[in-house]
Amino acid sequence: MIIGIDIGSTTTKTVSVENGVLARKIKTRAQDALTSAAGALGKLLIENDIDISSISGIAITGAGASKIKNDIFGIPTQKVDEIKAIGTGGLFLAGGGGDLGSGMDSIVIANVGTGTAIIQAGKDGIIHLGGSGVGGGTIYGLAKKLLPTADFGGIMELAKDGKLNQVDLLLEDITDTEISFLSRESTAANFGKMLDSALSPDIALGILNMVYQVIGMISLFAARSVGVDRVIVTGNGSNNPVGKQVLRAISDMYGIRFDYPPDAEYTTALGAALSYT
Ligand SMILES: Nc1ncnc2c1ncn2[C@@H]1O[C@H](COP(=O)(O)OP(=O)(O)OP(=O)(O)O)[C@@H](O)[C@H]1O
Ligand SMILES: [Mg+2]
Repeated sequence: MIIGIDIGSTTTKTVSVENGVLARKIKTRAQDALTSAAGALGKLLIENDIDISSISGIAITGAGASKIKNDIFGIPTQKVDEIKAIGTGGLFLAGGGGDLGSGMDSIVIANVGTGTAIIQAGKDGIIHLGGSGVGGGTIYGLAKKLLPTADFGGIMELAKDGKLNQVDLLLEDITDTEISFLSRESTAANFGKMLDSALSPDIALGILNMVYQVIGMISLFAARSVGVDRVIVTGNGSNNPVGKQVLRAISDMYGIRFDYPPDAEYTTALGAALSYT
């Protein structure tokens, strides 16, 4: 059994790979990288009643991996480059086990974590196309100062009743006609209106909308730049219902496909474990 540990800037994701498949998974959160890695491994072992001697190797990746200098609990421990881990895990999940299928030779992965990384993976290898500092962390940071809650569930609950036209300047606010392929309800400027009557739900929705519009558009441009029409969305940010609606609108407008494979939050940890040699 190989263990993959992804020590992200916000959460640590740990998986076990047994016989080439993702067998077990857990998410944890700790203040420092070492506590995160040791705690996550301990939790996975204890909760699943796994004997430590059945682990043949540990692969660590993510922003916190550089803090781990030695083998963990005497088990051979390898560091895996995070981009390689995302690409490897993304390819595996996109093709249901490593095969891209349907005649495609490459995919683009948008890993939505604290920030956003965009990676191409396929026959030309794994290439870091770029990314954006706009990601899940942006939602938390803005929520902390602008909303009564910075808790993920609380932000999502607020956004349910939000009205975008209270905060965003929409095309219909500035023109009587459609512009190019954009509908009149399209955002012309995120937070470009911000009425005095805007309430917390409107601001919550405005934040989520802005973050996922940025993620969607940079993913689209990245995918188009390499001739790909399918983006695999991974990271904890792939699990955001409002984010998915925003990406759906981009998908409808621009003819790009956003896919959310099962276990997409564990892509990086899985890719690390699969890269263990
Ligand atoms: N329960 C949840 N469901 C969906 N998304 C969540 C949930 N809790 C937090 N998030 C979002 O996920 C983001 C963190 O994602 P993730 O854990 O993939 O990042 P990370 O790996 O720690 O960061 P990075 O890869 O950028 O170093 C948070 O900023 C938040 O927006
Ligand atoms: Mg991550």
